[in-house]
Amino acid sequence: MTNIKGKISGTGSFLPEKVLTNYDLSAMVETNDEWIFTRTGIKERHVASGEKASDIAARAAGEAIKDSGLSAKDIDLVVTGTVTPDMVFPSTSCFIQLDLGLRPGIPAFDLSAACSGFLYALDTAERFIRTGGAKHALVVGVDIFSRIVDWTDRSTCVLFGDGAGAVVLSATKGKSGILSSHLYSDGKSWQLLYSPTTIQSSPFEKKGLRHDQPYLRMKGNDIFKLAVRSMSKAITKALKESGIGADDVSLLIPHQANIRIIKAMQERLKLPDERVFTNVEHYGNTSAASIPIALNEANKAGRLKKGDIVVLVAFGGGLTWACSVVRW
Ligand code: ACO
Repeated sequence: MTNIKGKISGTGSFLPEKVLTNYDLSAMVETNDEWIFTRTGIKERHVASGEKASDIAARAAGEAIKDSGLSAKDIDLVVTGTVTPDMVFPSTSCFIQLDLGLRPGIPAFDLSAACSGFLYALDTAERFIRTGGAKHALVVGVDIFSRIVDWTDRSTCVLFGDGAGAVVLSATKGKSGILSSHLYSDGKSWQLLYSPTTIQSSPFEKKGLRHDQPYLRMKGNDIFKLAVRSMSKAITKALKESGIGADDVSLLIPHQANIRIIKAMQERLKLPDERVFTNVEHYGNTSAASIPIALNEANKAGRLKKGDIVVLVAFGGGLTWACSVVRW
């Protein structure tokens, strides 16, 4: 074990320009603002209208690099959590490297963990840093779910939005940085939330292998309960292992899927409103982008002070879930 760890040295985020309100949605499917807001806390979301995942990711990443005071040439690793890349390959990270003029030759790759993608990417990048494989990593979360939701299915299309967030994770021997990180998965429940969009037929395929519905599918009630239970348990375990009490948490930044999921978790942990960050009202569930967007907004709003204990927690398709405890 070295005494080096990763510290978040810069944050950034970017949303596509087009805003889709609940009222706009009520002209597309049989729904209304009252139903969506009371069940989810969402009022509006941004949707891409031409932007690709790598376009918005590069904007978020560029802001994070600027915020860190570093320059593009200092970045020596790019890890992006996404399930909606521009292409099957090249990776979104390679496009970000190109767009931002990062040094050729550095490792750049994507990983897939749906809504937990950013925390999976953060943990992966930090392992590079702890073992001396990187000094300044760009860690990105980006998703364009408007490309994979079924816009005729009111039970899912109202929940999601598009966006990108990023951080620079820098090696430090100081007290600030990632104190603990836990990643989890459970493949047996994959059918509660999935999207087979990139699966296409080949001439060699048996008929039964094909998905006749290419869109995202979800069992909302089951996901709701599992999300609350898994994230609450993950936080309790992470705090215990870090030797930190819930009272010492300055800010919980949970995955922004549904305000009722966040409130249920908050009640279990007995955290007051001012110590829980939410912005789901304006963006909906932006999947892997949700935590880094929230982190950037909390940072830029001055809600993160040096020494603060910040807890990041996510849950998503896979199933996957994750929790990181950070000293700011
Ligand atoms: N507008 C109006 N009515 C709707 C809509 C809509 N957009 N969607 C569903 N309904 C109807 C249903 O058809 C149903 O009608 P019925 O009673 O006549 O059959 C009724 O509303 C109730 O539906 P439920 O599914 O029981 O509603 P519920 O209160 O469970 O809320 C929701 C649904 C919001 C999807 C909730 O289950 C949820 O948020 N689950 C978590 C899902 C989630 O966040 N997933 C994201 C990925 S995982 C993650 O990020 C944590």
